[in-house]
Amino acid sequence: MRENPYRKDFPIFDNKGIVYLDSAATAQRPYAVLDKERAFYENMNANPLRGLYGISVEATEVYEHARERVAGFIGAASPEEIVFTRNATESLNLVAYSYACSFLEKGDRIVTTIMEHHSNMLPWRLAAEKTGADIVYMLPDKNGKFPAEEISSKITKGTKLVAIGHVSNVLGVTNPVKEIAEAAHGVGALVVLDAAQSVPHIPVNVQELKVDFLAFSGHKLMSPFGIGVLYGRKELLESMPPFLRGGEMIDSVSAEGETFAPVPHKFEAGTVNAAGAAGLEAAIDYIENVGFDFIGETERRLTEILFEEAAAYPYFHILGSEKPEEHSGIVAFTIDGVHPHDVSSILDGDKICIRAGHHCAEPLLRHLGVMSTARASFYLYNTEEDVRFFMEKVKEVRRFLGLGD
Ligand code: ALA
Repeated sequence: MRENPYRKDFPIFDNKGIVYLDSAATAQRPYAVLDKERAFYENMNANPLRGLYGISVEATEVYEHARERVAGFIGAASPEEIVFTRNATESLNLVAYSYACSFLEKGDRIVTTIMEHHSNMLPWRLAAEKTGADIVYMLPDKNGKFPAEEISSKITKGTKLVAIGHVSNVLGVTNPVKEIAEAAHGVGALVVLDAAQSVPHIPVNVQELKVDFLAFSGHKLMSPFGIGVLYGRKELLESMPPFLRGGEMIDSVSAEGETFAPVPHKFEAGTVNAAGAAGLEAAIDYIENVGFDFIGETERRLTEILFEEAAAYPYFHILGSEKPEEHSGIVAFTIDGVHPHDVSSILDGDKICIRAGHHCAEPLLRHLGVMSTARASFYLYNTEEDVRFFMEKVKEVRRFLGLGD
């Protein structure tokens, strides 16, 4: 079988001997990212954006360089359109609190989908509660596809905001963002894209997709934890009030009042995660060096192998499309007679790491008539051995519980 030339870059595989199939939850980190973060702390650790001395200036430069790199990576028009946050969840909450709660009114419509991660659902529900806006859900078919009629009948006049995920963290399906954005803009609505599951796996360009806001987490693309991104069109960010208030997000403060720093710093209150941003830049360098072609091919090939093996195992049921290439390397499944938590715990005995539960997408699972699933997800460091070993052990799960093959 073909070797995976990148696996050796990830120390955890030698250190722990695991078969890691939970990259949709968080990716493993290569040396390049770990080294960059460590180098920050060893050589320029000082509070960025404040100090007038050498290493603080260096820390600021590294932080702002990472912002430029992120802007280029996702096709933003300028680095000022990139706000660093803790993660995609915080980015989406920022838009909900700052944009939606300020500008939506009673009777306005927020359209989202029942397929969303809770992070791209609960913030809009809060905004609806606070403003009196209505929430409308687009409903996918069992493969996660939205019929054209579903889009055109829900994104109608009065819609002010459309919040969708790019790739479902359960079904792996990729949503037709351009079409949805066109429908949204056609009625004067803004588009918020949760790109947490797409940015690590496929090229994403905010200007080509014509989205107004986009959120992603660094950790799913191999950066350190605690660094995330919000992209927002500059004029929108400029029109919005700050989300969090405090240090370094101001222009001037007196006892009577304050004025705010220009974007993006207006949205980055408190000490920022410069080491995390440096690590995110290293992760982007790493991904671009590997290339999205390799990433896509690896994920497709491994998903195909999983599907082939599953076809010979009648107790194994895959959610979503029957086509492996429509899964973005994410396979949610059930095994007859076995709770997904038991599947995960039993596989853990063989050091196989998968996720089990509702995947923070409970409304989707309810819509599909299941309460819980197991989920395997692949990334660029996985191998054919990983997926074959996983399926070999999956086939033993029912036997382990005395349920027969
Ligand atoms: N959103 C992450 C997942 O789907 C945590 O597992």
